[in-house]
Amino acid sequence: MITCKRCSKPPCVGYIYLFKPVIVLLDNHGRAIHYLRLAVTDRCNLRCHYCMPEHGLEWTSRAELLSYEEMLRMCKVLVRLGINKVRITGGEPFVRKDLMKFIRALSKLDGLEQINLTTNGVITAPLVPELKKLGIHSVNLSLDTLDRERFFQITRRDELPRVLETLDALLSHDIPVKINAVVMEGQNTDDLLPLVEMTKNLPVDVRFIEEMPFNGGDHETAIPLWNHVKILHTLCQQWPDLEKTPDPPYSTSMNYRVPGHRGKVGIIAAWSRTFCGTCNRIRVTPQGVLKTCLYDHGVLQLRDLMRNGLSDAELSEHLLFAFSHRHKDGWEAEEARRGVPVEESMATIGG
Ligand code: 5AD
Ligand code: SF4
Repeated sequence: MITCKRCSKPPCVGYIYLFKPVIVLLDNHGRAIHYLRLAVTDRCNLRCHYCMPEHGLEWTSRAELLSYEEMLRMCKVLVRLGINKVRITGGEPFVRKDLMKFIRALSKLDGLEQINLTTNGVITAPLVPELKKLGIHSVNLSLDTLDRERFFQITRRDELPRVLETLDALLSHDIPVKINAVVMEGQNTDDLLPLVEMTKNLPVDVRFIEEMPFNGGDHETAIPLWNHVKILHTLCQQWPDLEKTPDPPYSTSMNYRVPGHRGKVGIIAAWSRTFCGTCNRIRVTPQGVLKTCLYDHGVLQLRDLMRNGLSDAELSEHLLFAFSHRHKDGWEAEEARRGVPVEESMATIGG
């Protein structure tokens, strides 16, 4: 007979939940989908070369943006379908007015297990105590260099000190932090080793990302010279005893650790697209376009469907159709754009 682990009697309510059926949403390639990356704005207070031109982008007007009410409704529908993790991203999410109100509402959504954030950290530090209270699961902080001058060259803004304040605040509130560093030839390759050094005493994971062409037309991108192989080779030259650590399920990074260091090091082959086989994520842009692959051109205009009065059930049908027609990988998705170049800004995609 099955008994409760706590009271040894036949199963009580608290025990039954262990047997609760778990909804797993599968795509047409048998991949589970349970992770939404929601870009709440395309605006940003930095101007990273790899993301947008100096003058910024043609920002989305207020009327074209998904409202918070629309986002919340869409999240509810998606959670019912099987999404259990949301990452709020942008642009820089915190430049959107009243984002904390939205996060508060989202944190009450039944069935949503994790809220994560990606931020550049420029204006985030004062919000960290409330983020902690709201149970934010983890924060990805974009930080490509620890050198103030290089930070200015890459982001075109002198904001390194405020980003480091956010890092301190996150660590002192015990919020797990991953640092995202895009590796660019001629710009920050001297930062690889200092960034890994950070993992020695700090419990942070540093992830090196191959540069992708999503720079909003800032410049033409070639195949990145600093691909995952070259990044790993450079790290191994400095730390020949670099250890491979297990990659968590659905991880986009290949993970390592310098023996004795507190934090880990990851390499994300974002251009080489080595991780498509286990891709569990979908994206919604600030204009409410669903992307089932980073490299596709958008597969469903959710905002218009909602504004045209579709019911939740009808919305779900459209979503399920899109999930059952996913491209098998980023190469196929890019091919299907039929000549539309991959040059939109990462800020409009939700990084
Ligand atoms: N290539 C690779 N990564 C990028 N990001 C933004 N633009 C690019 C690009 N062109 C990353 C940033 C940020 C995340 C949202 O996306 O590092 O952390
Ligand atoms: Fe802003 Fe992030 Fe784009 Fe940099 S990469 S400009 S921080 S949205």
